[in-house]
Amino acid sequence: MILHVDQITHHDRYRLVIGAIVPRPIAWVSTMDAAGRLNLAPFSYFNAVCPSPMTLVFCPGVHGDGRKKDSWLNIEAVPEFVINVTNEDTAELMNQTSVVLPAGQSEFEWAGLTPAPSQTIRVPRVAEAPISFECVLERIVVISDQPGGGAAIFGRVTCVHVRDDVYDNGRIDLAALRPIGRLAGDAYIRATDVFHMPRPVSPLPNPLPGGEGAAAPLPSPLPGGEEAPSGG
Ligand SMILES: Cc1cc2nc3c(=O)[nH]c(=O)nc-3n(C[C@H](O)[C@H](O)[C@H](O)COP(=O)(O)O)c2cc1C
Repeated sequence: MILHVDQITHHDRYRLVIGAIVPRPIAWVSTMDAAGRLNLAPFSYFNAVCPSPMTLVFCPGVHGDGRKKDSWLNIEAVPEFVINVTNEDTAELMNQTSVVLPAGQSEFEWAGLTPAPSQTIRVPRVAEAPISFECVLERIVVISDQPGGGAAIFGRVTCVHVRDDVYDNGRIDLAALRPIGRLAGDAYIRATDVFHMPRPVSPLPNPLPGGEGAAAPLPSPLPGGEEAPSGG
């Protein structure tokens, strides 16, 4: 089957993306408008960019009537936001916050969630979330501001809140976090069938000048001075 994207409908393009790019992590994004009113919404077009400087990206879209989603509008007005992590315990509440409310009406209140003060920005985090990343806007890359379009919003992380039981000696404890991912439609997945694959070691000389990481190694945070991890 060959699908030329300009020969299928917007709806079919949407279904292809949300069915093929799975499972997706979920950014549960709190924002504030210019009047200080709070907004909270989930976005599964979401990922990490790099650890130093710690940078995350999520992608809000444009409604069918041409209006940008409130989260996008709010970040243009107040360039700060919190990316909260949702999990099995908060899944229902996260889903509630995807409701379309009139601009300025808070999904915190709607879902009965608690805004907790952030350390470095004005926008509060979700107290019920196991992990929250306080972010300042790094940049917005607008792909299209027309109906069906969207933007990539990059956030520079300034502070991270991790619930104590989820943080184990510098690592996130998966069993305590109980993460979820989004599939197509209203389907979600739990991370309960984990398998491991050690990275292969090349038997050939490293083709990069000086070997990968050798030219300018990052200071290693790992015991024994292993190479500091880079990509995802
Ligand atoms: C799990 C989940 C993931 C979602 N991911 C996205 C997404 O990546 N981009 C998007 O534009 N909308 C996404 N939505 C829909 C938005 O959450 C929804 O349109 C919300 O009302 C937007 O809120 P806002 O207008 O307050 O920003 C998602 C909804 C759910 C339930």
